[in-house]
This record gives sequence, structure tokens and C-alpha cells, in this order.
Amino acid sequence: MGIACQDGREEVIQAWYMDDSNEDQRLPHHKDPKEFVSLDQLAELGVLSWRLDADNYETDEDLKKIRESRGYSYMDFCEVCPEKLPNYEEKIKSFFEEHLHTDEEIRYCVAGSGYFDVRDRNDQWIRVWVKKGGMIVLPAGIYHRFTLDSNNYIKAMRLFVGDPVWTPYNRPHDDLPARKEYLEAFVNKELGNRAVDAAA
Ligand code: LAC
Ligand code: NI
Repeated sequence: MGIACQDGREEVIQAWYMDDSNEDQRLPHHKDPKEFVSLDQLAELGVLSWRLDADNYETDEDLKKIRESRGYSYMDFCEVCPEKLPNYEEKIKSFFEEHLHTDEEIRYCVAGSGYFDVRDRNDQWIRVWVKKGGMIVLPAGIYHRFTLDSNNYIKAMRLFVGDPVWTPYNRPHDDLPARKEYLEAFVNKELGNRAVDAAA
């Protein structure tokens, strides 16, 4: 399953290290020169990605397979624009507050686009640009945030295992079990491997 729907992912999901300017959050914020991050590097942080047929999500067998194999029983849509999202301005602000969740954040972009920023192991921001057809999973416990890009619109399918819990825990929330488990699975493990490599 890990291999399914990986072809052409780079056309709808791109990632790069962010500069540290305080300019408009909806701008790309590339470093100079640009520093791209591969989808394999994202996977090492626990961030999974697929490319799907967003024009046919209702009948898509690939989406169905992903949902079945990962237990994503719940599904709804979140459209981010002033007309469709109650308390739009407030929501935009809170989405961009650095936070974590105690469960995966699963988003499938079926229209528009947006930036999911995630922290790498050294606490640097990686900007993950998800466009129509891109689906990503942010693991439980990863610090992240979301913003629209300058096109100002996304329609995302939200998936969840069982009854959804959207609660954001703004940073710092390092004592939550989900945070500790994330560090154990994706950060300390790697540090351990590197220490072994260095000693060899
Ligand atoms: C969320 C995104 C905004 O928590 O991170 O829905
Ligand atoms: Ni979130």
C-alpha cells in the first residue's frame, strides 16, 4: 500500500525550507537559493503523501483502498474562504498558530491549494505545498500550522479514524503522550541511528 498512488506526487505536493522573514504568510517564503525537501525526506518525519484523482473522489478506488487500509472511516470537507468558513479571519489566524494534534491530520486537496508547514528534527520550518490531487497525513504529535497561499482558496477532504477530534494544542505541549510518541518514533530513533553511525 505504501507504494500505491506515489507516481507524480511531486506535481501536486512540493516542499521546501522556509526563510525567516515576517512577510505575508501566504507568500512562498523560499530560502535564497531555494532549498527543496523531497517527499522521501518528509516521510522520514512521518509525513505521508499520495496523488489521487480529485475530479473523481466519489468513485476513486485508490482513495477507497487508502481509507480501508488506514481505517479512515470518517470524512467531511472543509472549504477555506470567507463565504464558506464561519469566523473566517479568526480561523485563518488559529490555523497558523503552531500546534499539534493527538491524532493524524489527514487532508486531501480536491480544489485550490495551501501550505502545511511542519517542523523538521532541528525545529526548522518546512513548507509543504499541497495542490489539487495531493493528499497528506501529518502524524500525531508533529508541530505544524496551515495557511492559504496567495490564491486564497482550498477545498480539503478531512479524514479521520472514528469520531473526529480537531483540537489543536498550541506549542508548547511537549508533555502530551502524542508528542512523546512522535519524538520516539521519528526524532530520537534517527538520533540513535546517527549516534551508531558516528561510533562505527
Ligand atoms: C488543522 C490545520 C489547520 O488543524 O492544521 O485543521
Ligand atoms: Ni492542525
